[in-house]
Amino acid sequence: MGMEGQLLLRRSNQVSKPSKTTALVKRWALLFKRLRMVGFVVGIVGSILLLDSFMLTVVHHNIFRSGHLPDRARPMQDEWRGYYRNVEKSKELMYERLVTLASTALEKKELQQDQFGQWKEPYEQASSWKPCADRSTGAIHQEHVMNHTRFIIVSANGGLNQQRVAVCNAVAVAAMLNASMVIPKFLFSSVWKDISQFGDIYQEDYFINILKDDVRIIKELPSHLQSLNLESIGSMVTDLDMRKESKPMYFTKVILPLLSRNGVVHFLGFGNRLAFDPIPPHLQKLRCKCNFHALKFVPRIQKIGSLLIKRIRKHDSRVSELDKQLLGRHLPHNLLVGSNSLGKPLKYLALHMRFEMDMVAYSLCDFGGGKKERRELQAYRDMHFPALVLRMRENGSISPAELRKLGRCPLTPEEAGLMLSALGFERRTYIYLAGSDIYGGRSRLLPFTRLYPHLVTKEDLLTPSELAPFRNFSSQLAALDFIACAAADIFAMTDSGSQLSSLVTGFRTYHGRGRAPTLRPNKKQFADILSENGTLGWIKFEEKVRKMIGENQRVQVRRQGRSIYRQPRSPECMCRASGPLRDHL
Ligand SMILES: *[C@@H]1O[C@H](CO)[C@@H](O)[C@H](O)[C@H]1NC(C)=O
Ligand SMILES: *[C@@H]1O[C@H](CO)[C@@H](O)[C@H](O)[C@H]1NC(C)=O
Ligand SMILES: *[C@@H]1O[C@H](CO)[C@@H](O)[C@H](O)[C@H]1NC(C)=O
Ligand SMILES: *[C@@H]1O[C@H](CO)[C@@H](O)[C@H](O)[C@H]1NC(C)=O
Ligand SMILES: *[C@@H]1O[C@H](CO)[C@@H](O)[C@H](O)[C@H]1NC(C)=O
Repeated sequence: MGMEGQLLLRRSNQVSKPSKTTALVKRWALLFKRLRMVGFVVGIVGSILLLDSFMLTVVHHNIFRSGHLPDRARPMQDEWRGYYRNVEKSKELMYERLVTLASTALEKKELQQDQFGQWKEPYEQASSWKPCADRSTGAIHQEHVMNHTRFIIVSANGGLNQQRVAVCNAVAVAAMLNASMVIPKFLFSSVWKDISQFGDIYQEDYFINILKDDVRIIKELPSHLQSLNLESIGSMVTDLDMRKESKPMYFTKVILPLLSRNGVVHFLGFGNRLAFDPIPPHLQKLRCKCNFHALKFVPRIQKIGSLLIKRIRKHDSRVSELDKQLLGRHLPHNLLVGSNSLGKPLKYLALHMRFEMDMVAYSLCDFGGGKKERRELQAYRDMHFPALVLRMRENGSISPAELRKLGRCPLTPEEAGLMLSALGFERRTYIYLAGSDIYGGRSRLLPFTRLYPHLVTKEDLLTPSELAPFRNFSSQLAALDFIACAAADIFAMTDSGSQLSSLVTGFRTYHGRGRAPTLRPNKKQFADILSENGTLGWIKFEEKVRKMIGENQRVQVRRQGRSIYRQPRSPECMCRASGPLRDHL
């Protein structure tokens, strides 16, 4: 289970009294022991993933038609249109007064100089960190690896971003144990309903080649091992069998003997199972090399990603390092044969709005939708989070008001809109919205679209036929969101616990050359600010929100235990052009 699942589980532990093993895990562990057939295992893993989704959207609701869409936008999904027409006006406004103030403020603020300029990264400091994880770590130890004595298989669960973390953690573990690694497998889940395998999303040969001096990666397990029943010989290790963020010691004490005995270990899941610290520097570096250099999207994703970026920017005279890293040969300007691109590219803000049903229901928070909302969310929990429901029943739960105060509630679109307007973004700001299956749909988004009508999603920018090859593959669609968010002039998130937000932030830090700001709210502080919604003046509100965001924007070295994928500014991953850290490398 990935970071996000962990996050949710952790939350739920706090809801009840924390226990070492949650009832949920126990139940699954029991089930797991009983069910031998892989099909069932996959089903269970699938249900774990429910906790873990950042973007359940496969069908787009085309909820943004009210805005001024770019020329490319096309109406689609007729079956949804009727549905949204029937939705009444938003009834869930929680901060009517502030929204009115925001609206007035935006009207006054038309055409200020450079609204993007005010949220630049502190360039001097930020650009002093350079990517440098692409060199060989020299981790490969020929004798075991060449003798083909140890093999690691990983079947990653979760969505695109959780899988990415699992893959790079497994690469580090393979290097640690001097084992060869089989090209990762991606588990099918009933939630994501995506049969994509590694090679459908990432360039396999590139991956193998880039890492060839660090870890030996092979396409298939040798035939003499293929016939083994890994579960019966004890070589199947699931997320339930190991602690999250296990230390290297666990792998040398528990996994290595298994590997030596059986020659192969299969990690089923492996989300978040390798600690961030302490890890030997060369393995930390290898994780970075994997995440920031080895995983390139396949050309068909790069191509459509490039088209998406081109349509967002409308012109494409500018190509950034981020573009190159994301899109390889398929840079936007290559697609522009014969068209003139005299205009300036449009700057855009990408917003990952993590306000999907699963998150909303799991949070146990109240979002101002009254009885109907409470009933709806409870029904969802009954269906998808039985362990949480049981715990609520037995041990009670913290009140929604308390949860809000503690910063445990995902930001609503209304709150996201207030945040952006307090940060000085004008009404005309062009916003790319990732994670578009917003709970409550159009009605819920209204407070946001009223403040910011120029809102688009990939479904608005690409035609149905362009999207068709991807439509049934939620991970491939998520890859397009990843690209659009990573390449944005500014990236803003509503929840720093989400994998997409976390990995995009790290990617921008690593490849952004000090010009890729990310805006990250502190939910607890924001809740605190919003608790004064009845009295705060707009100027004061602005001031407080800006301070909150500013604090998260400082350029700093990754702190102990933090994700190196999210905070690559760390001597193992990036090099500082000057300064004391240089000596570490
Ligand atoms: C690898 O193979 C070589 C010769 O084939 C042998 O001498 C060596 O002991 C083997 N190493 C391991 C770790 O099995
Ligand atoms: C991997 O190989 C290196 C070099 O031979 C050795 O020092 C290290 O102990 C090995 N690690 C394991 C887990 O076998
Ligand atoms: C309720 O709390 C008790 C004591 O902390 C714990 O043993 C029990 O498992 C909890 N119940 C659920 C359903 O989590
Ligand atoms: C997507 O899946 C649905 C049902 O699972 C199927 O009817 C449809 O043809 C698929 N579309 C594409 C483009 O593969
Ligand atoms: C909004 O302000 C009112 C009082 O002015 C307060 O009672 C309420 O809790 C605030 N709402 C939130 C969600 O903090």
